[in-house]
Amino acid sequence: DNAAHTRTLKVLLAGPRGFCAGVDRAIRVVEEAIRRYGAPVYVRHEIVHNRTVVEELEAQGAIFVEELDEVPADGHVVFSAHGVPKTVPAEAERRNLLYLDATCPLVSKVHREAERHFAGGGPDSRHILMIGHAGHPEVVGTMGQLPAGAVTLINDAEEARTVQPADPARLAFITQTTLSVDDTAEIVEILRERFPLIEGPKREDICYATTNRQEAVKAIAAECDLVIVIGSPNSSNSQRLREVAERSGARRALLVPRQCDLDWTVLEGVNTLGITAGASAPEALVQEMVAELAKRYTLQIDERIVKEESVIFRLPAPLG
Ligand code: F3S
Repeated sequence: DNAAHTRTLKVLLAGPRGFCAGVDRAIRVVEEAIRRYGAPVYVRHEIVHNRTVVEELEAQGAIFVEELDEVPADGHVVFSAHGVPKTVPAEAERRNLLYLDATCPLVSKVHREAERHFAGGGPDSRHILMIGHAGHPEVVGTMGQLPAGAVTLINDAEEARTVQPADPARLAFITQTTLSVDDTAEIVEILRERFPLIEGPKREDICYATTNRQEAVKAIAAECDLVIVIGSPNSSNSQRLREVAERSGARRALLVPRQCDLDWTVLEGVNTLGITAGASAPEALVQEMVAELAKRYTLQIDERIVKEESVIFRLPAPLG
C-alpha cells in the first residue's frame, strides 16, 4: 500500500476564507436574472474576479462584456459587485436597457459617503482623498460617483505624504473595501497627521470580509512554510491575503487560481501548509486543492477559525 509510505503534510485551513456576502449576492443576482428573464443575461465586467465563477455562470447563460455598447437593445444587463461609475446606469437608461445592480452594499455605502462629503459641490463640500489602487474597477466606480476632480486617488503612503490639496481644512477620505488593513492604517495616520481636520470613517472603509480573512491568515502564517491563497490574480483582496501571509511570517505565500495551476515542486521541503481563499473564490476550489494534496501526502488537517460570519445580503429590489 503506497499510501502508508507517503509523507505527512500538516494543513492549516484559515477561517473565515472564500466567499463573502457581497460575492454570494452578486452570483445570486445573475442566477436569478437568468431564471426570471431567460438566457442570455449580460454581465458588465467579471461579476466577481474569479474565472471559475465566470465560467459556471456562462454555462448557465450569462454573457460577460466589458462595456454596455456590447449589450443589444433589448438585453438585460447586470453590473458587477465592484460597482460602476454613475455614467453606466445613466447610459443604460438612455438606451432603455433593463439593468440590475449587483454592486456590493458595502461598496454602495462608500459611494454614499463620497456623495455626503461632496455635498453637491456647494459651500459645505469637501475634497475627497480616496485610498485605493489605480485602475481597479471598484476605484473607478467610486470615483465615478462624483464629477471629475472631486476625488484624488492615494495609492500608497508616499502619495499620502506628498499630496497637496487646495484647501487642507476641507478634506475627507474614503477607502477601497479590499485593502490591506495594516497599510491603510498607516496611510490614514499620515493623512490625519498632515490634515487634522480631515473627515472620514473611524478607521477606514475596508469591509468585514477583507478584515476577517486577513486576520485569519495572520493567525496561521507564522506556523507555515508555505501559504496558498486560492484566488485570481486580478482579485484585490486575494492579492492582499498573499502579502499579509508573507508579512506575518509565512516563509512563502502564493496566489493560485486552482489546484491545476500549482507547480507541485513548491511543496518540496514544506511540512506545514496554510490554505486560504479570496472572497471571490468558491470553497469547491479549496476542497479540490485538498483532494489533490490527499493523493500525494498523508494529510493532517487543522481548521483554525478566528471568527464566525453570518452576514447575508438581500437581492436588489426587482429580484428581492
Ligand atoms: Fe462586499 Fe467586501 Fe465582499 S465589499 S463584495 S463583502 S469583499
